[in-house]
Amino acid sequence: MSTTPTVYVGMSADLIHPGHINVLNQAAKLGEVTIGLLTDAAIASYKRLPHMTYEQRRAVVENLKGVTRVVAQETLDYVPNLEQLRPDYVVHGDDWRSGVQQQTRQRVIEALARWGGQLVEVPYTEGISSTQLNQSVKQIGTTPSVRLSRLRRLLEHKPVVRVMEAHSGLTGLIVENTAVSVEGRTLEFDGMWSSSLTDSMARGKPDIEAVDISSRLQMVNELFEVTTKPLIFDGDTGGKPEHFTFTVRSLERLGASAVIIEDKEGLKRNSLFGTEVAQTQSTIEDFCARLAIGKRAQITNDFMIIARIESLILEQGMDDAVRRAEAYIDAGADGIMIHSKRKSPEEVFEFCDRYGKLPRRVPLVAVPTSYHQVTEAELADRGVNLVIYANHLLRAAYPQMVKVAQTILANGRALEADPYLAPIDEALAIIPENQQ
Ligand code: SPV
Ligand code: MG
Repeated sequence: MSTTPTVYVGMSADLIHPGHINVLNQAAKLGEVTIGLLTDAAIASYKRLPHMTYEQRRAVVENLKGVTRVVAQETLDYVPNLEQLRPDYVVHGDDWRSGVQQQTRQRVIEALARWGGQLVEVPYTEGISSTQLNQSVKQIGTTPSVRLSRLRRLLEHKPVVRVMEAHSGLTGLIVENTAVSVEGRTLEFDGMWSSSLTDSMARGKPDIEAVDISSRLQMVNELFEVTTKPLIFDGDTGGKPEHFTFTVRSLERLGASAVIIEDKEGLKRNSLFGTEVAQTQSTIEDFCARLAIGKRAQITNDFMIIARIESLILEQGMDDAVRRAEAYIDAGADGIMIHSKRKSPEEVFEFCDRYGKLPRRVPLVAVPTSYHQVTEAELADRGVNLVIYANHLLRAAYPQMVKVAQTILANGRALEADPYLAPIDEALAIIPENQQ
């Protein structure tokens, strides 16, 4: 008795296009098709998190002609699923012969050889690709609710979420578009940090909550006009508790994903001054009340209110920091940020170890400005879920701008400043609309 051959097709299926349909049609001619649908975590391990969630993508793929069943493929590597299903065929577009998926392809060939299965490669469909569609989606933009919920999705599916400071539309574009390829994986920042330090500094002001919340929100709006990535808002102390309600609602309405508020009160100074300036830490009770006001104000389920602990900055000790983490989680905090201004990560590591033993935990945030030698991987190993590079784009621009100003003054003309400048055509090309 002959049985129908089995066919396995692995796919992300985020933006379905005729290339996918072509692969599926070829697969269906060979036998009964099982789709190995890559999970969000599998996709995020080598490129951007997909636009649609796993469940949304599954709903689409299940209903495509010629698909018999859909299973989850939890790694970029096909082998675990192939070993279980032992299909007669794997069908894939021939574009994976080069680039990121080369090794994955090789392992598929080796696995299939173990039971006499065969890899069938379908010629790449010219004129359309997911990369192109992703570009188009970026140009269309996003909606507040899609952007807002993205941070929680990233935290769920990535070992560590990487966020970079942005204080202008231009720096937003840098965070949005900068990507590097390392060992076949595309690395990008996952989102933006609206820093009170850089948002103030860009306006020539100290970081003392002197830039009012309406101006801060105006900048968020400007960032959102030109980007699609999620944003975490530095809410300083949260301001007057009665005002915090409005801040939370305004941030949600714009589509910000989270606000971080710190457990200080009175005239807030930047944490990196440490104990050099007078700063007052809130009592646990007062700060928990502030968190609770924020939680009551929020309208969506996905918005996050993250509690920032200043005990190590203010030299109040590790026990105090851990006690506060527990209390803030009980008060409803959706995340904990531990801050430190030490030159080495040891005290943050110690906090992480203690935090890891708490019975209830929420995502943990670190800001490695002063302990900059630490890697994201080392922080992730200790349980940090989100890393913020809090001021780096502004700090990068400043020395260069001063250098150019000095060079022009010293020479009475601009020629000598050229080595420090982007050529005009490159500068114009930064803005996508200039290229059309
Ligand atoms: C900011 O970026 O404004 C922060 C982080 O709050 S820090 O400057 O280190 O306090
Ligand atoms: Mg700040």
